[in-house]
Amino acid sequence: MKPIFFVTKPIPDIGMNMLRAKGDVRISQTSGLPSDQEIAAAAADCCGLLITPADQITKTTLDQLPYLKAISTFSVGFNHIDIAECTRRGIGVGHTPDVLTAATAELAMALILAVARRVVEGDRLIRDRRWHGWAPTDFLGSPVTGKTLGIVGAGRIGGCVAKMAHGFDMPILYTARTAKPELERDFKAQRVELADLLQRADFVSIHAPLTDETRHMIGCPQLQMMRPTAFLINTSRGSLVDEAALVTALKDGIIAGCGLDVYEREPQLTPGLADFPNVVLLPHVGSATLETRGEMAVMAAENLLAAADGKRPPHCINPQIYS
Ligand code: DGY
Repeated sequence: MKPIFFVTKPIPDIGMNMLRAKGDVRISQTSGLPSDQEIAAAAADCCGLLITPADQITKTTLDQLPYLKAISTFSVGFNHIDIAECTRRGIGVGHTPDVLTAATAELAMALILAVARRVVEGDRLIRDRRWHGWAPTDFLGSPVTGKTLGIVGAGRIGGCVAKMAHGFDMPILYTARTAKPELERDFKAQRVELADLLQRADFVSIHAPLTDETRHMIGCPQLQMMRPTAFLINTSRGSLVDEAALVTALKDGIIAGCGLDVYEREPQLTPGLADFPNVVLLPHVGSATLETRGEMAVMAAENLLAAADGKRPPHCINPQIYS
């Protein structure tokens, strides 16, 4: 009998075709995001789930999926999956690292440039037909070149941002669990404590994974440490930032602005966030280039097919279950 795979959101054709070649593919019929109950009901007889970062896979969901052998998330982040519970049940979990590193780092740079040079504000002015011509004192922004960048969490994506920012002659500060000698050698990056980074950086860009320890790592006390001229950028996970505290900091002029691609309660926005002109908001598109999403699709399909076949997925989060 062919394996049955449940896909919560269709992925690019190249990945869908790989799955269809090996099994029966069932796609969620829910418009919008399927709830965990909907996933559990629709996938009750499936051996593999292909999900996105918007889907929560909890113990309760897993309890209702007795045939599940494989979960493949179309993302590098896996904070939305109860990994310990999957491991306990022998369910292999795969993700899509590396292929989205440059795309996500580019988006962090795009947000840095957008908030500093008021790109979205300018675009809105033109579209609203409110532009009355060039003036020497209009739309003054902050420079990026030569300004200090603080990278919170210098993993793969944070390291790639350091490389790109080095091209803008930005001195780089970073936090990381372990020192990154290559960043220090190649880009003169300096490893510092978070408080030091927050006090010294002109741009603070977050690239940490979301865990119980990192949730709300940027809250009121941390925002207070930032310079009033500094910008906060988040392309990692929304819950790393306490958004209510962020709205207050923006209202009180504690920081100069922010650029966000991710939110605490996606797709909902924390009230107030969209009211500031010095805030640029994107709909979680860090990895959204045609090439990157194609590579993610292949990787996600390979992970699902391997784990459904009882083999270790090529990009496995819980390899211990195969030893
Ligand atoms: C990820 O991969 O974790 C991104 O947030 C979605 O592309």
